[in-house]
Formats: sequence, C-alpha cells, structure tokens
Amino acid sequence: MPTRQVTVRTPAKVNLDLSVGGLDENGFHKLSTIFHAVDLVDDVTVREAPDWSVEVLGPYASVVPVDDSNLALRAVKLIAQWSERRGGPCPPAVHVSIDKSIPVAGGMAGGSADAAGALVAMNELFDLGAELPDLTELAAQLGSDVPFGLVGGTALGSGRGDEVVPVLTSAKYHWVFAMHDEGLSTPKVFRKFDELFPESAHWEPTPNEDLLVALRSGDPGDLAPLIHNDLERPALELLPRLQQTLDTGRSNGALAGFVSGSGPTVAFLVESRTSALDLMVALAASGVCDNVVSATSHPGGARVHTVE
Ligand code: C5P
Repeated sequence: MPTRQVTVRTPAKVNLDLSVGGLDENGFHKLSTIFHAVDLVDDVTVREAPDWSVEVLGPYASVVPVDDSNLALRAVKLIAQWSERRGGPCPPAVHVSIDKSIPVAGGMAGGSADAAGALVAMNELFDLGAELPDLTELAAQLGSDVPFGLVGGTALGSGRGDEVVPVLTSAKYHWVFAMHDEGLSTPKVFRKFDELFPESAHWEPTPNEDLLVALRSGDPGDLAPLIHNDLERPALELLPRLQQTLDTGRSNGALAGFVSGSGPTVAFLVESRTSALDLMVALAASGVCDNVVSATSHPGGARVHTVE
C-alpha cells in the first residue's frame, strides 16, 4: 500500500549562548549562538489533500495562525515548488496537522521546528530527493532558526543564525521551562536590543570557546556559569515580570536561569530529574509564571517518527 501520511517529530531549542552584533546587508543581526535541542516536541503530520491547509492541535491551537502565514504551510509549498523547478516529482496539495507542545512565541523556535518538520515530512511522503544541503537552503528561506531545526542536537549558529554546524557532544542536561501567557515579538526584542546597546552596531559576535569545552565534560555545573543571552536584557525591559521568574528559579535550586532566545520563556538548568521536579513545584506554587514543564536535552532534530 502506498504511503498515506508521514509524521515528523521536531524538538524545541534553547540558546545556551546568544551573542548579537551589528546588521548584515539584509538588515538581520549578525549572531553567534549555540543552539541546544530539548525533548519538548511537536508532531507534524503531512498527507495528500484536495487543498493546501494546516491545523493545529493541543493547548496552543487557538493562538497559531492557520492561514498562509503559517510557517509549516509555507514550508510544504516551498519544497513542492523546489521539486517542480528542478524537474522532480510534482507533489499534490497536502494537509499539515501540527500536534503542538512547544510554547508559541516563546523563544523556543516552535514555528521554526514545525517548518523544519514539514520540509522533512513532505520530502519523505513524496520521495522528493532533497538532501540535507537542499533542505538547509529551503529552511533558511523560511527563517533564521529553521536550518537548526533540521540538524538538532547541539550546534553552533552563525550568520543570522542560519549557518549551522553540529557540535559533537553527548551531554544530556535537565531543564525546567517557565512559560508566560504574554508573547514577545522577536523583531521588537531585537529593536530593543539596538536601542539599549547602540554600540553593538560594530560588534562582531564570536562563539564562546569555554562553553564548547564545558559541553564536552557534560557536567551541568561547568555549563551553568557560561550560559549567556544578549537578548535577555531587552526581553526583561519589555516584560519586567520575567525578572521575578528568574529570581524564583535561581533561589530554588536552579544552576542557571536565563531567558530562552527572544523570550518570554525562561529556562532553568538543573542538576537532576529530582531537582527539576522540585523546581517545577516551587515555580508553580509561587505563581510567577503561567505554566511550567521539564525536559531533557534531545540528541537530534526533525526526524521521521511514523510512516503510514
Ligand atoms: O528569521 P526570522 O524570520 O525568524 O526573524 C524574525 C525577525 O527577527 C526578523 O524579521 C528580524 O526582525 C529579527 N531577526 C534579526 N536578526 C536575526 C534573526 C532575526 O534581526 N539574526
């Protein structure tokens, strides 16, 4: 029986290091970042349908657009056009279903993960023959974080974040994420960064070598003091309540607390599964955030999960 649908599981990310510099020729900020995937996942299912469409399932269903602006929908159309242009298979319209657990507008690249998942699912469903370099090129057209979604694990990002090189590490850390109902717009956070640090126009961001060494040891105590995010200050200026969340986590056993990407999700690195549970209870009881989940590091990126 021919394949009818493909589901790709795609993880969220945190940035363990995020250094922001001046603008590139396209108006994006030059970045040096260390991406790290965590096992908070979305499942993206693609199947043939009479029309192009997307639906979102789960607690975030009402806040994700399902029109043409949806990044996963744009991804399936983009790879279909790519295949046609190069004389490959000419895929029909598809329906994309996203079973969503990654927070929306949370700084964890949920939309980018879905787009990466949709590219991989479409490629598999119709045997389009796109290799990783092809997928990466298409991913970069969709957004700065999408290429990392294909690679996953831990990776060094440069350019505007879209040039991704895997970092070999088997380190597995425990994380707690504190979510906030208010979203934070990524462009607004970058604009606030420019406002706060006008001198950054001349900065050339470089990777933190010490952090790369700490990842090799896998000891969370080595990693904790090196985690750094240049977008934390602007995110805090735009949403001051995040400071209380950071303080609560730091005073309840977290080894490190930081804003994830452009926020507003706050990430905590903890020692163990038990400390993760303790911290979740403390955060929930304090009422400083609206939801809290735990996760561990995830070794891969968007990968085929089921083929039916
Ligand atoms: O690439 P992506 O679509 O995710 O970026 C969203 C917005 O975030 C951009 O339009 C830009 O305002 C900002 N951004 C930036 N520099 C980057 C990445 C994103 O200024 N390297």
